[in-house]
Amino acid sequence: MSSDEEAALSSSSSSSPPLGSHYIGRKEDIVRLGRVTRLVDGSRDVLVLHHRGQLYAMDMRCYHAGGGLQNGDIEEFNGRSCIVCPWHKYKITLAEGEGLYQAVPNPTARPLRTEWRSKGVKQRVHQVTEVRGDVYVTLDSRAEEVESDRYQTDKYRTTFCNNHSKTNT
Ligand code: FES
Repeated sequence: MSSDEEAALSSSSSSSPPLGSHYIGRKEDIVRLGRVTRLVDGSRDVLVLHHRGQLYAMDMRCYHAGGGLQNGDIEEFNGRSCIVCPWHKYKITLAEGEGLYQAVPNPTARPLRTEWRSKGVKQRVHQVTEVRGDVYVTLDSRAEEVESDRYQTDKYRTTFCNNHSKTNT
């Protein structure tokens, strides 16, 4: 499945909100702001963003060390739209949550050539549905652990928020 097809699946229009989905806000507001964050279902911090006409949703904290992706830039790598974590610049594809890295296929070749490769899914992405201008997120419920899960606990949220507020006072 191509990235565009994945993106089409991750954001769709519908006549009614999917069962178990959560209201995020009006599409026009998300488009205007570019991105919003929500604590969804009281348990998951989710980033919803608008990029090139498409809505995406993913865990808000980066799988590497919990950086806030809501402050990341969006850039293209090998034709794939990625959010770049503001902390250590990890690249995460918007549609799939894959971590990308720059590989050197042949370290002895000159000039040195690099290419972007995938580490696999590292960031949990969620389904976005639009219903008459209202945007809903359905949390991804796959059983396999995804690395970004570790920053979605009450303990981390409390610790992170406490440390963050201390460093900003
Ligand atoms: S926390 Fe995101 S790159 Fe390190």
